[in-house]
Amino acid sequence: MNTYGPRSLSFVRGRGVWVWDAAGKKYLDLLGGVAVNALGHCHPAVVRAICAQARKILHVSNLYLIEPQIRLAEELVESTFADRAFFCNSGTEANEAALKLARKFFFLKKESRDHLVAFQNSFHGRTTGSLALTAQEKYQKAFRPLLPVNVARFNDLGDADRMITPGTAAVFVELVQGEGGMETATATFLAGLRRICSRRGALLVYDEVQTGNGRTGDLFAYQHFGERLAPDLLTTAKGLAGGVPIGALLARRPYADAFEAGDHAATFGGNFLACASALAAFRVLSSASFLKSVRDRSAVLWARLRAVKERFPDKIETLRGLGMMAGLKLRLPFSSKTLRERLQARRVLTGISGESVLRLTPPLVISRMEILLGVRAIEEEVAAL
Ligand SMILES: Cc1ncc(COP(=O)(O)O)c(C=O)c1O
Repeated sequence: MNTYGPRSLSFVRGRGVWVWDAAGKKYLDLLGGVAVNALGHCHPAVVRAICAQARKILHVSNLYLIEPQIRLAEELVESTFADRAFFCNSGTEANEAALKLARKFFFLKKESRDHLVAFQNSFHGRTTGSLALTAQEKYQKAFRPLLPVNVARFNDLGDADRMITPGTAAVFVELVQGEGGMETATATFLAGLRRICSRRGALLVYDEVQTGNGRTGDLFAYQHFGERLAPDLLTTAKGLAGGVPIGALLARRPYADAFEAGDHAATFGGNFLACASALAAFRVLSSASFLKSVRDRSAVLWARLRAVKERFPDKIETLRGLGMMAGLKLRLPFSSKTLRERLQARRVLTGISGESVLRLTPPLVISRMEILLGVRAIEEEVAAL
């Protein structure tokens, strides 16, 4: 079906931050499968784990214990605020699970909390529960009625304070709005949300589908702000299994215990293939030295981007994002779509976020030289706009 519009490019293989088309033309991938290829294409540890697992067993269903699933849950729990994990196959499914867990928690408490809070320009997925939280008219307009959601302005604590009421079950927030313009939550905003949610008894849910798994230079972006701002629930997906579909809901107690047998499930969720791949990816992504190297190379990326912005203040309004999640907001009438097309024509892949932001979510393994190469291409194409 025509859900993706016309596409002209296709690729046949990849390695690190590079992909090749069938004619053998090589492209620099600064989009990383929209923040999925955290370890780049064909990372040897991930390839090895997938091949070894495929030779043993791929799938048995969650009617049986799946040993790598348990190990993955243990690793996630040990590395975060969470006490338990649930596995599914995508970001939107992770958010659906979070929605249901929040509802089940208040059902057990016999509290009628019937609405949710999300923020303007958010993106939480496209299944109808998550879509209700995706506060952007263009995504929602054809699909109403949706679940009741109060929408507050992002980074506006006063507005959040008005929207979070004693009837709020959960508040969903992204730490960087990856699809909605690359705005980053401020520490003051998150601290305020944490305080308000705790006071009013609403669950605070961080959607780290995109910001998780090393993307911002910490294993999860909330860790950048300190453990005292940890959420009650956290959803993640994208980079977690290094390119194989997976999603996860992490939760602390007592919320985590609200799901009982039969309340929620996913046929493929946390199967051998996804978990073997995730364990291999996670071993690399969660190591302190890898995360430090992501921070170091992010600093190079941001320094280079700042230089480009300073050179073209008439074309670039702001730089947004955190770590290896960077956005260049262009000034009107310059178009991020045109810039992206021109970069693609010179074989550099980038994305778009919101209305006018060029989005960079490169594989986290990108080298300093590859960053310089990519930003030079951006600089030249901005100059030519
Ligand atoms: C923050 C956030 N949440 C949820 C989703 C939905 O994830 P998926 O496309 O895997 O369902 C995305 C996808 O871009 C996202 O960026």
